[in-house]
Amino acid sequence: MLENLGALKRSHYCGDLRNNDAGTIVSLMGWVHKRRDLGGLIFIDLRDVKGLVQVVIDPANQAIFSKAERVRNEYVLHVEGTVKLREGSNVNTNLATGAIEVLVSDIHILNDTAPLPIQLNEAAMADEDLRLTYRYLDLRREKLQKILITRHNVSRVIRDFLNNERFYELETPILMKSTPEGARDYLVPSRVHPGKFYALPQSPQIFKQLLMIAGFDRYYQIARCFRDEDLRADRQPEFTQLDIELSFVSQEEIFDLLERLMQRIFKEVSSIDIAIPFQMLSYHEAMNRFGCDKPDLRFGMELVELSEVFTSSSFAVFQSALAANGVVKAIVIPGGAKYSRKQQDELVELAKHNGGKGLAFVKVTANGLDAGISKFITDDEAKSLLDATKAQDGDMIAFAADTWEMSCKILAAVRNQIALQEKMIPENSFAFVWITDFPLFNWNEDQQRWEPAHHMFTLPREEHIPWLTMPENYGKILGQLYDLVCNGMELSSGSIRCHRYDIQKQIFDVLGFDEEELKDRFGFFLDALKYGTPPHGGIAPGLDRLVMIITGAESIRDVIAFPKTLKATDLMNQAPSEVPAAQWQELHLKPAE
Ligand code: AMO
Ligand code: AMP
Repeated sequence: MLENLGALKRSHYCGDLRNNDAGTIVSLMGWVHKRRDLGGLIFIDLRDVKGLVQVVIDPANQAIFSKAERVRNEYVLHVEGTVKLREGSNVNTNLATGAIEVLVSDIHILNDTAPLPIQLNEAAMADEDLRLTYRYLDLRREKLQKILITRHNVSRVIRDFLNNERFYELETPILMKSTPEGARDYLVPSRVHPGKFYALPQSPQIFKQLLMIAGFDRYYQIARCFRDEDLRADRQPEFTQLDIELSFVSQEEIFDLLERLMQRIFKEVSSIDIAIPFQMLSYHEAMNRFGCDKPDLRFGMELVELSEVFTSSSFAVFQSALAANGVVKAIVIPGGAKYSRKQQDELVELAKHNGGKGLAFVKVTANGLDAGISKFITDDEAKSLLDATKAQDGDMIAFAADTWEMSCKILAAVRNQIALQEKMIPENSFAFVWITDFPLFNWNEDQQRWEPAHHMFTLPREEHIPWLTMPENYGKILGQLYDLVCNGMELSSGSIRCHRYDIQKQIFDVLGFDEEELKDRFGFFLDALKYGTPPHGGIAPGLDRLVMIITGAESIRDVIAFPKTLKATDLMNQAPSEVPAAQWQELHLKPAE
């Protein structure tokens, strides 16, 4: 039944045909998307990577007609015929090719198909695990094809833009030594060096800095990165960064470069105009006003600081938080006075889930405050509260009293939840914001040591460099660090690097590396810094996340051709998988006890 491939010569893509092709004889290749038998005619929606076209088989040609009767969905066909304008009500305005159809003169069945394990129409979508098991079929869906083609277009624009800005695209090793991005490494055992391992790069960070030391001036790479960390909707164990590094550069120049790049990508790929320059917020301001360092600026509901209002509060929860040097912060939930007890309890649960002790409420009515903790609030406090929050009749105020960090975190979670629940997030809007002036170090309470807030190769702000030798000031040192956030997602992260050996060494000292460990892990890099390192800096946008934002994809798995599950497995090929005992031996490994 299958035919030899003989004269396989495509003249057009199915999805490309338009009115002005009417009268043309075409030769198409594609899959049977759908077959309909109607009143003696057979209609086939033939699909290729460019889209669908309707082909029509007339019963007058018996041989072709009986062949067409045999085809089933997802058979692979070669169709020859003539493009014809559709008449009046037959025009399908929902289809790009809907003004025409192809009157078939010959059909070749190039391949048939076993019954499909998953349906390809969106309405009958199988569950995600099954779709990932048959990813090559899932990828036939228009939605995923569009996303991956957009991804290709994003990469193409990136290359055009950066090549034009005098960047060099250079590759760095995949088998390398452990990199310090803070996640767990994927390790590769060495066969020729018993007991030794390569690490897969968490990012090309060290290599891109070495390329600056080598004098390449401007580098980029669309680089695969590997991190063995807990996965989420926006995280994969292997993902792609647009890795960028420049010499003799300021933070402002990097912002300008990225803004123009983003503008170009959105315009060329999706015809979306985005305004530049982007807004800027210091880390502290972002935390204070939005409760987190990746604020979604598509909606308001800013946090309000109320510690001053409640200095002599009779509410025990506020008293104890303030006595412990904490804060009282709040947000106004517009129209929240109508919330039921259950809805309030859900928000309390959300606060607890985020590590808080609870959430207190008060409703705002035309006659003043009501319900919740209103009985603890004096008239004076109520007045100051309403002044500070600008809450209106019908609103509800939600309070978190805790440490500054914890109050911020709780209210950020509440803010995002309310925005979703109340549909406050406008569609098709892109709120970019630079977050700057991050602290250089965070105190790790569990391990009782300082750790890099982002990464350890960042230059502190000029005026904070002397503090690197003053332990009491470590927590106050700000780094020349910046993140680009879009719609509440961290899209890129970067910094101006430490190009001086002495300063880099001091940073390693603060982080508590002993000499031996330092030499072993970063000796080669510290050495390199001694040999005429130019001032340099860079940034790395996550390509997957960028494509998610442009396409509106909800899951990072939708923007990667062959993604892994949240458990880091590939359901299609069952990776990771067991290997024969001989391979264990060859690699000098022993099975876990
Ligand atoms: P960072 O670790 O912040 O910085 O990563 C930069 C960007 O990469 C993306 N990203 C991820 N995307 C998907 N899955 C993941 N698991 C994942 N982890 C990170 C994010 C993030 O903003 N070397 C530095 C960059 C630099 O300083 O130049 C770095 O790797 O979009
Ligand atoms: P409790 O005294 O623990 O029963 O709490 C009284 C109310 O205050 C409850 O609605 C709690 O959810 C809320 N609450 C408890 N701790 C806090 C806190 N740290 N900040 C804000 N509200 C809190």
